[in-house]
Amino acid sequence: MKALITAGGHGTRLRPITHTQNKHLIPIANKPILNYALEYVKEAGIRQVGIITNKDSSEVSRVYGDGRRMGLSITYIPQESPSGLADCVRIAEPFLGTEPFVFYLGDNIIVGGIKRFINEFNSNKSNCHLVLAKVPDPERFGVPEIKDNRIIRIDEKPKKPRSDYAVTGIYIYDSSIFKAVNSIKPSARGELEISDAHQYLIDKGLTITYSEITGWWKDTGKPNDLLEANRLVLDNISTKIIGHADKNSQISGRVIIEKGCEIQNSNIRGPVIIGAGTKIINAYIGPYTSIERNCTIKDSEIEYSIVSEDCEITDQKIRIEASLLGKGVKITEAKLKPFTNRFIIGDQSIVEIR
Ligand code: TTP
Repeated sequence: MKALITAGGHGTRLRPITHTQNKHLIPIANKPILNYALEYVKEAGIRQVGIITNKDSSEVSRVYGDGRRMGLSITYIPQESPSGLADCVRIAEPFLGTEPFVFYLGDNIIVGGIKRFINEFNSNKSNCHLVLAKVPDPERFGVPEIKDNRIIRIDEKPKKPRSDYAVTGIYIYDSSIFKAVNSIKPSARGELEISDAHQYLIDKGLTITYSEITGWWKDTGKPNDLLEANRLVLDNISTKIIGHADKNSQISGRVIIEKGCEIQNSNIRGPVIIGAGTKIINAYIGPYTSIERNCTIKDSEIEYSIVSEDCEITDQKIRIEASLLGKGVKITEAKLKPFTNRFIIGDQSIVEIR
């Protein structure tokens, strides 16, 4: 079996981070989001992976190369423009061939991986196996209508959802999906919708089966989703301290402190991960915080946040919380009078000041 993973798209809901970075490379517990998808397919025994990328972008391929480092063989499939998930499947047909395959949205994170869904697809002998999750806001997703344990209809982002289930970003298909994605027409928003392809299969009487996710699953489309995914992944880390903490520092809970970290006179309250070469001085790092490599956090407090590499946070009087910092961000105190707030911020940034 092969896997098709998406890593293209617009990423509009994650601007401004996505102005300069593909959203699939944003770190969750200090690993790019896309790493999780690649690990799940590998764990399921799949080696040949196609990754959908935006045309003319080599960001993702520069990170993963031919996949050998992860024990995979990766083929990049450039998409002309982000014209929908069904378009991703359509353009990947030459790579996928006639065997069943897993289609996985590269911005989804799920505990427990995907192996059991593949097993269910195989034992049900279905044409299409969907993975559903109960959500509080189904109107954001493709929503199934279920009757007598069968999916009888699927609506994309319906105003009035017919169930409280979302179709998550994990799908397993046989080759009948290609007829569907080549037959449907673009939706009102101009995309080839995967929900329309599923509806096509239902209308043609093909077998659609489903599993329900009982653990957690997260579609990391918005900043708050990233923070939640980060929290959920950090909840499962085991303590590993390689860097150095001086004896004036307190470290509690589950914490990963990587090589070359220097912690001085600080309080680290896990779950927390701190990347290689980062310096934490006179600081408080609270639960559910990920700090990537080569950052400096000094005379400041931060919790429930994601800090990308090369950031500097110094002399902050008020604790930073629920924040998402891209690479090389500096948050510091004004040293000269007049004491003002000064901002040098890219397009569509969000700043909340007290
Ligand atoms: P979405 O999160 O639905 O869309 P998006 O990435 O364009 O983001 P936004 O709505 O904030 O603008 O995409 C789900 C996944 O599919 C994600 O991994 C991006 C990817 N994708 C593609 O690779 N090609 C596409 O044409 C689309 C629509 C999404």
